[in-house]
Amino acid sequence: MAGTLKVGLIGCGNVVDYGHRPALLALKDVELVALADITPARRLIGKAWFRLRERQLYADYRQLLALPEVEAVVVAVPQKFRPRIVLDAFAAGKHVLSEKPLSNVPAVAAQLVAAARHSGLQLAMTHNYHFLPEYQKLKQLLSQGLIGAVRVLTLHFLGVIDYPGAAEYQADWRHTLAAGGGVLMDMIHAVYLAEWLAGAPAQQVMAFVDALQYAGREPVIEDLALLQIAFPRAYAAIHMGWGAGVGGLDISGSDGHIRLRYKQHQSGGFNQPIELYSVDSDWRRSDHAIPNLDTHEANIARSFTQLWADFRDAIREGRAPIAPAAAGARALEIVLGAYASAVCGRVISLPLAAADPVYQKGIAGIAELEAWAGSKTKAAGLFGLRA
Ligand SMILES: NC(=O)c1ccc[n+]([C@@H]2O[C@H](COP(=O)([O-])OP(=O)(O)OC[C@H]3O[C@@H](n4cnc5c(N)ncnc54)[C@H](O)[C@@H]3O)[C@@H](O)[C@H]2O)c1
Repeated sequence: MAGTLKVGLIGCGNVVDYGHRPALLALKDVELVALADITPARRLIGKAWFRLRERQLYADYRQLLALPEVEAVVVAVPQKFRPRIVLDAFAAGKHVLSEKPLSNVPAVAAQLVAAARHSGLQLAMTHNYHFLPEYQKLKQLLSQGLIGAVRVLTLHFLGVIDYPGAAEYQADWRHTLAAGGGVLMDMIHAVYLAEWLAGAPAQQVMAFVDALQYAGREPVIEDLALLQIAFPRAYAAIHMGWGAGVGGLDISGSDGHIRLRYKQHQSGGFNQPIELYSVDSDWRRSDHAIPNLDTHEANIARSFTQLWADFRDAIREGRAPIAPAAAGARALEIVLGAYASAVCGRVISLPLAAADPVYQKGIAGIAELEAWAGSKTKAAGLFGLRA
């Protein structure tokens, strides 16, 4: 098939509103022809957004997958439901754009990566931060060797906004164990950005993971995660929290340093970048303009449009997308490795061992780890652990 890419949407929640909707409406050669959602009110909202007919709406995604005209699907349901749908999509011969995270469980993510390879179909991740203008600019500056070799990346994402899910479905699903983790799992963007900017897969991770903001709420998942990640030739620190502090990014290189800051000290993805500058090894400052900078909402919408264009071209050209499923699987292992580190009080090697209970079960495997007596994660009672 060539020409217009006809797609089906599975799960019509908030991320569709601000991300997939503007992208699908902007791209003239990508057409949404069917929509599946288990929540009737969400089907009606999607019907109006995309000007669909009643017969293009489905409660059961399997009916959508049976449509011969659908060439690709986007799976934007909560992550717990994603693996089954992705496997069914491959069985029906459809390419898949997966929301992040790919799954809650590394062993399952690996199965999805293998299933994509065997089927010859695309399995791409919605790692849309690759296309935010400030990170595009950063990547360009690093590729040009502006600060020499990247040595230490510090990504501050302490001002992540805790948006609830669509009210018509289950607004609080992110705060349940079924979400597979808390703010770090939700904002996995920082993890794949660190890998992308470091230029190679992570080898080790260590972390503190706690719940400070939600202390009065009997939290089951974290609202704060402080990670250190070792890459082959660089290190990254990720400071991630729901509403806990500042955002921005600092990169130290062999020949200089880069600083990125957001309006009101907010975090990437939630406000406008207002400052991007570098200093050379003699501390001489250069300010860098960020091209295509728009309102925050427009930047996010454009990042999804560019991601969809990349997905379309990957299908047409038979090449890998910017973020293939393997990148999603690696990001998931960094997150779960961080949780395991915070519970065990030690550095975790990556990729995770196949016999590791966290590799096999995600956060449900954490209870099987040998917890360190001083673990703050355990003391907070996260992930079903009892203090
Ligand atoms: N890329 C990003 O920046 C970004 C941003 C937000 C959310 N997300 C991801 O997108 C996914 C959805 O998040 P959201 O905020 O839109 O959630 P949401 O709660 O707003 O929407 C989820 C939708 O999925 C539907 N649904 C649930 N189970 C289904 C099933 N089995 N079949 C069909 N529909 C089903 C619900 O009815 C609801 O409409 C999550 O995995 C989340 O991590 C990504």
